[in-house]
Amino acid sequence: MNSNRQVFLQLIDLYERHGYSIATGLNPTLFSNWPIPSFTAVYKKGETVRTGGGIAPVEVFFIEALMQERAFKKVFIIGNAFGWSTFAFALADRNAQVLALDAGIEGEDNLLGIELTNRIAEAEQLNVKCILGFSPQDVAATVKEHLDGAPDLVFIDGLHTEEQVKKDFEACRAVSSTNTVYLFHDIIISGTMEKAFLDICDMAPDHVSHVLWRTTSGMTMLVPRELNKELAPVISGYSEAEDYVNRVKKTARYRVYLDRITTLRAVNFVKSLIPIPRRWKKWYDV
Ligand SMILES: C[S@@+](CC[C@H](N)C(=O)[O-])C[C@H]1O[C@@H](n2cnc3c(N)ncnc32)[C@H](O)[C@@H]1O
Repeated sequence: MNSNRQVFLQLIDLYERHGYSIATGLNPTLFSNWPIPSFTAVYKKGETVRTGGGIAPVEVFFIEALMQERAFKKVFIIGNAFGWSTFAFALADRNAQVLALDAGIEGEDNLLGIELTNRIAEAEQLNVKCILGFSPQDVAATVKEHLDGAPDLVFIDGLHTEEQVKKDFEACRAVSSTNTVYLFHDIIISGTMEKAFLDICDMAPDHVSHVLWRTTSGMTMLVPRELNKELAPVISGYSEAEDYVNRVKKTARYRVYLDRITTLRAVNFVKSLIPIPRRWKKWYDV
């Protein structure tokens, strides 16, 4: 495998070489606004392997950029599914040790996903391991037994409930150092975990919080104050100006509402006759 290639391309190639095909990164607006195809699934001979979904391509790009910015040595992940994000970290820095914990509870092929991860890791001689177990209760023992010290980067992508993400964070923090960076998947898109993330921020006053608005799922991050400046270029590349985010939110609501009304042909015709007043323009255009 050409390790100079973009990590996303290496990942697709990795699964292909082991007999699996990847489906990923489709634009939801082309598919009745269904968000799922924007994330990643794996197939074998046309049959879906039923595990939790993998992160979206933009999120793989982010991980690659993050691992380029700082040499994280020990990555701990909650939520492996079929290994897509686990391998993203490992391919982004082949010197990093990557350990994932997965409860094997999402989809009937989840255990196959864990086994596939470990099989590919061994065949490719990547420093990757996935352990079957539950967060929070198995986090401490798993890290102690399988990671060569405290993780310096934690990725939380397990069960997407408000209560669980807080438990995941607390369990990881107990085995981490003060310099550990935390990355959370699906926080904004879940609609329920945003509040949990705010509580987590309160629990970690020595970390700076970031919402990575340019990632597909609305990933968030907690960065130790001392590392914030060092990681700023990559974080700002995947964040968005707050006032722009707020304007887009308002405009999107307004536009969707307007589109619903104007699906009626007659209303559309009348609308075409009425120029949009200047002062309304700011609502109509971002
Ligand atoms: C969305 S998938 C992870 C996807 C993966 N991070 C990727 O992008 O390739 C979520 C996974 O979390 C696992 N999971 C759910 N609850 C868990 C828990 N309490 N402890 C560990 N794993 C859990 C599920 O079995 C599932 O495989």
